[in-house]
Amino acid sequence: MVIKMIYFFSGTGNSYWAAKQIAAGLGEGLESFVLYREKMLVCNDAVIGFVMPTYMWDAPKFVRGILKRASLGKDSYIFLVMTSNKGRKNFGYTSIDGLVQNAGGRLSAAFMVQMPGNALESSAEENEKRLKEAPARMDEIVKAVQDRTVNYKPKRRALAKSKKDFSLRGASFAILPECDGCGLCAGICPTGNIQIVDGKAVHGSQCASCFACMHWCPKHAARITTGKLGNRSQYTHPDVRVGELMVNQKISASASHKLHAQIHTGWTASETDRG
Ligand SMILES: Cc1cc2nc3c(=O)[nH]c(=O)nc-3n(C[C@H](O)[C@H](O)[C@H](O)COP(=O)(O)O)c2cc1C
Ligand code: SF4
Ligand code: SF4
Repeated sequence: MVIKMIYFFSGTGNSYWAAKQIAAGLGEGLESFVLYREKMLVCNDAVIGFVMPTYMWDAPKFVRGILKRASLGKDSYIFLVMTSNKGRKNFGYTSIDGLVQNAGGRLSAAFMVQMPGNALESSAEENEKRLKEAPARMDEIVKAVQDRTVNYKPKRRALAKSKKDFSLRGASFAILPECDGCGLCAGICPTGNIQIVDGKAVHGSQCASCFACMHWCPKHAARITTGKLGNRSQYTHPDVRVGELMVNQKISASASHKLHAQIHTGWTASETDRG
């Protein structure tokens, strides 16, 4: 019986990697928020974890939307892990606190893990240092969860804030001529926002701003048109393969769903592995 469930959301693999370390450290139970796009997330497990990136010093709007209509156990030990570029605590804690209260639960602990940035660029030296330090940080978090550490006090004002809409707009994209219509971006996009039309990627209006399409494209052909971000270099977590993230985040790890992924994206987990 699964008594612990870790839910994750990830664009470039940092949060997926972190979620995997926690699930491995605690035992079973890793699931993607994306699976709850159209159904209610109901969980009464003894331990519930949420792992996600920081967007604009808050939790991703996509995850907030799912937690807005969740139902959580009132006696569950609920913890949050946010990955971020700068490694600072932020409004995401309060934001998730409010949503958890709204869903009937109580946030007991929140942890930050500094990782390479996938929006503003962090240097190669910074990235190397962060990736080297991350496993020890994950061990600390696993230990804290095993000990049911309480390091977060829910705030009354968080509940009111959780009901407000967080207005991060989806990113806008330009597709460079190098795009060969391979479909990988359509496969990895968590919101199904990309279609291949006449051999080229075309973005719709349901973008969650995860930047996965920009970072995973084998041709670096999907460029963000906002500010300087379009010219930044690509980054993906070195221990995460695109096929693994695509299948586990968007669809589920079961064999039948892998087949579904193959049919609908033209990609298989082994074909999408890039080393
Ligand atoms: C739209 C967007 C906004 C971001 N905003 C912040 C931010 O406000 N502060 C920060 O430290 N990192 C920010 N980041 C960086 C990510 O939180 C960080 O790189 C994270 O580890 C990415 O996780 P992932 O690989 O699981 O997608 C932002 C990233 C994106 C895509
Ligand atoms: S992943 Fe890149 S090359 Fe492939 S369809 Fe998308 S934008 Fe084009
Ligand atoms: S369009 Fe790109 S940035 Fe937007 S949700 Fe899809 S993969 Fe993420």
